[in-house]
Amino acid sequence: MDKILVTGGLGFIGSHTVVKLQEAGYEVVIIDDLSNSSENVLDGITAITGKRPIFEKIDLKEKADVSAFFQKHNDVKGVIHFAASKAVGESVKEPLLYYENNLGSLVYLLKELKELPEASFIFSSSCTVYGQADELPITENAPVKQAESPYGNTKQIGEEIIRDTCKVVPTLKAIALRYFNPIGAHESAEIGELPIGVPQNLVPFITQTAIGMRDELSVFGDDYPTSDGTCVRDYIHVLDLAKAHVVALQRLLQNKNKESYETFNLGTGKGSSVLEVVQAFERVSGEKLNYKIVGRREGDIISAYADTNKAKDELGWKTELSLDDAMLSAWKWEQKVRGK
Ligand code: WQD
Repeated sequence: MDKILVTGGLGFIGSHTVVKLQEAGYEVVIIDDLSNSSENVLDGITAITGKRPIFEKIDLKEKADVSAFFQKHNDVKGVIHFAASKAVGESVKEPLLYYENNLGSLVYLLKELKELPEASFIFSSSCTVYGQADELPITENAPVKQAESPYGNTKQIGEEIIRDTCKVVPTLKAIALRYFNPIGAHESAEIGELPIGVPQNLVPFITQTAIGMRDELSVFGDDYPTSDGTCVRDYIHVLDLAKAHVVALQRLLQNKNKESYETFNLGTGKGSSVLEVVQAFERVSGEKLNYKIVGRREGDIISAYADTNKAKDELGWKTELSLDDAMLSAWKWEQKVRGK
């Protein structure tokens, strides 16, 4: 069975993708530097699939270590690249950390892939490349706008680095997957989102408030031009997202790609407001959530949700799980992690 490298495979989306890759019959090798994850995620993956992935603690900024890895694992057929720093706010304060980590690692990886007989590369990108799109739903042809943060800029530049490399390396083919808002956890509650410190994202803040770790959720503004005044996003269950990675990888392994470099939006195609997410949580958990409306958060866009046609027509993939499914799985995971 094909050996697949998953960088950042102990992270939130990475670990769920490793599970789906193993279930699809692939041999998985994980590289992770443990800067935003922990090694016991391996136990969670193993508890679900019964197969413990190979794990190598490597910092992808260390070029020699990346080369040594590919000397040892020269039978890698595909790479799914999640490893990156991803805190929007932190990237504004520490831009050079983000450019060095997210882009330096990518360049060293691609330098190794171009030496392989052939390589299929899946890149973890983000709808953040669109900024506030002029038209909704957002298609893959929507213009890529001036990034709102160095984090978002590393996704845009990363896509361009991959595109330019695929043009001149005939043995390399790649797909950039532009995620909307990933939420939820595996139904077993063996793996899930593990934000370090105060969560920046909405859903972990909701579940941590409900479990009693946070006093109340601050809703960042209810004066936006939306149905209830709060921002709208396309919240996609992390399991649907993980499955899309396996489908995209298989498109490349089976040479079904139409271009050497392709992009796909991954979303449900449905927008949900912040208050609708809160209501979904209350509905599935039976808990009343403590929240207050406060001022807007700097940099937030008003509304974003995906046009899902290209992924449906080209990948044959669409989401199957609902916002309620995702909120219930996130809540079960929070309760498991806090031993409640
Ligand atoms: C969602 C909505 C907030 C927290 C970011 C990155 C994006 C991707 C996903 C990496 C917004 C509101 C949030 C809170 C709130 N990350 N909110 N109170 O900003 O859409 O996307 O995470 O790829 O690149 O930009 O996600 O979960 O932070 O916010 O009211 O305590 O929830 O204002 O409207 P976002 P988010």
